[in-house]
Amino acid sequence: EKGGYEHFMLKEIHEQPEAIRDTYRGRLLANEGIIRMAGIDDNIEKFTQADKITIVACGTSWHAGLVAEYIFEDLARIPVEVEYASEFRYRNPVITNKDVVIAISQSGETADTLAAIKLAKQNGAFVFGVCNVVGSSIARETHAGAYTHAGPEIGVASTKAFTTQITVLTLIALKLAKVKGNMSNSDFHHHLQELELIPEKIEKALKADAHIQIVAKQYKDAKNSLYLGRGYNFPVALEGALKLKEISYIHAEGYPAAEMKHGPIALIDEQMPVYVIAVNNPHYGKVVSNIEEIKSRSGKIIGIVTEGDEEVKELADHVIEVPNTLESLTPLLTTIPLQLLSYHIAVMLDRNVDQPRNLAKSVTVE
Ligand code: F6R
Repeated sequence: EKGGYEHFMLKEIHEQPEAIRDTYRGRLLANEGIIRMAGIDDNIEKFTQADKITIVACGTSWHAGLVAEYIFEDLARIPVEVEYASEFRYRNPVITNKDVVIAISQSGETADTLAAIKLAKQNGAFVFGVCNVVGSSIARETHAGAYTHAGPEIGVASTKAFTTQITVLTLIALKLAKVKGNMSNSDFHHHLQELELIPEKIEKALKADAHIQIVAKQYKDAKNSLYLGRGYNFPVALEGALKLKEISYIHAEGYPAAEMKHGPIALIDEQMPVYVIAVNNPHYGKVVSNIEEIKSRSGKIIGIVTEGDEEVKELADHVIEVPNTLESLTPLLTTIPLQLLSYHIAVMLDRNVDQPRNLAKSVTVE
């Protein structure tokens, strides 16, 4: 049942190329330059006329929502708020019939997310679900939706659900960008082609596994870890930290790289591994400066970089490479080494990787 892998989590990490292909099959027609998604096509005006989109979710699904915020605002030019479902539901949020609410949930059973949906519906919003489990409560409670088609996710730590959620949300954002006239034909085509190439680029990223094990061995006994990223990769830093916490029980925090100097930099010493996502994009130079600040305080730097990177390699203690892609698609690649790293650290510490203590796969109580 684990397909020859030692744990479901490892199997599911390796399933991501195929899972993402399943997510975009029949929806992404790169050669024709078309994105086809019934749940969006049938409700296109709700999205294009919306005052704003509010995304509600918990945990890893909330991180996928944060990635979506960048892509929706950047490409489709629609204002987006991302809310913890548990906060949204008790906050008397300003939601009207001109709002679209997107609920993201792997299990489709998360109690807080379900309650947030009911509240949004009472306020007249159009509610769209992004779920993995077919026929789940959230899938049934929403007005329309798009399944991620990732297949069953058994490991408690979410992996392929996260990257397929981002894939669905990227398809939606691209579709809306096109319909709203925010993207030229050539730019749109280029994005579709690059998205289609993501599965094979993940296959390549997975090949760094042996090197990642070496890094894992070196930092597995650290008591704390920091994860830093900017822009599209800030949510990936949060997700990297969450993966480490939940399966290895090592305290970790994710931060926007520039926020370091507003507090967390005080934590840096020679014991502190700092995982910095420093891929090739307009923020690269800024991230390099952040790395220099960490280095001058003797922090250990592990850079997640674009293939062929030179500058971070000079500064960092280790670098892990991912293939090059468009900035908006980088989270789909930078997430991979961070998943593997958490996995290997947890295995080396002899943790129960697939069923970490105190955690359940679906959180049906608030
Ligand atoms: C983390 C994890 C949790 C879930 C969260 C939401 O690896 O699995 O943080 O992401 O409980 O669950 P769903 O997506 O089922 O609503």
